[in-house]
Amino acid sequence: MEVIIQPTYTQLAEVAAEIIRDALLKKPNLALGLATGSTPIGLYKALVRMHETDGLDFSDVTTFNLDEYVGIPPNHPYSYHTFMATHFFNAVNIPAENCHIPQSTVVGHEEFCEKYEAAIVNTGGIDIQVLGIGKDGHIGFNEPSSSLGSRTRIKTLTQSTLEANAPHFGGTIDAVPKMAITMGVGTIMEAKQCLLLASGTSKAEAIANAVEGPITAEVPASVLQMHPRTVVVIDEAAATQLKRVDYYKHVYANKQKLLSQLS
Ligand code: GLP
Repeated sequence: MEVIIQPTYTQLAEVAAEIIRDALLKKPNLALGLATGSTPIGLYKALVRMHETDGLDFSDVTTFNLDEYVGIPPNHPYSYHTFMATHFFNAVNIPAENCHIPQSTVVGHEEFCEKYEAAIVNTGGIDIQVLGIGKDGHIGFNEPSSSLGSRTRIKTLTQSTLEANAPHFGGTIDAVPKMAITMGVGTIMEAKQCLLLASGTSKAEAIANAVEGPITAEVPASVLQMHPRTVVVIDEAAATQLKRVDYYKHVYANKQKLLSQLS
């Protein structure tokens, strides 16, 4: 795992955007796995800026979102469909037909999930999967105890996730959808590269468990230790419980030095 620690949230978002920009410049038909939540908003903002000011072209990009709540319509103000349109899709030139988001209904969900997985495979697989992390170490909506080999399916949300999402639904847990369709841990692990983002002290324990703890279904993000190309981009606050901060910083600083000698 490569762990990149940045002083602030804005800088972590910039580093993440640069990773995606560099990949997109090399491969214009990039397949991106996308995440929602507050964490990737800065990344989307930076990519929108690169599109508007530097002409970064998304016209051949395909996207697959990690997850969506079940039981609210796609046009609900807090659906992930609305989130993606607001923060990213409406502001860049990705063709609408290239944007895939899990559906928000249980009707025909098994067939939907199979087709979602098949669409990812037919695109040639996800090149970069963006991930946030829940306080309990979940990725997508793969709650603790999710099979580390799981595929796209419906998951019941934990109390902790319902509480974390209550502010988006008028502050009451009762209003939060109880289920979601999410890519599985196994689906995520098939991405060619994973880009895990986290910001703030509330994520410090989850990051320490994911990066330095044992690999366990209790912390679904810990399975990323088995992924050959995971980059973890976090701010100082999210790094406060990591044991090897000095080492990660040393490795990254030397990489930057080497890269500057090459350019
Ligand atoms: C939800 C999403 C996850 C996201 C997590 C953390 O559970 N399904 O994909 O990583 O929230 O969200 P935030 O970035 O707002 O802390």
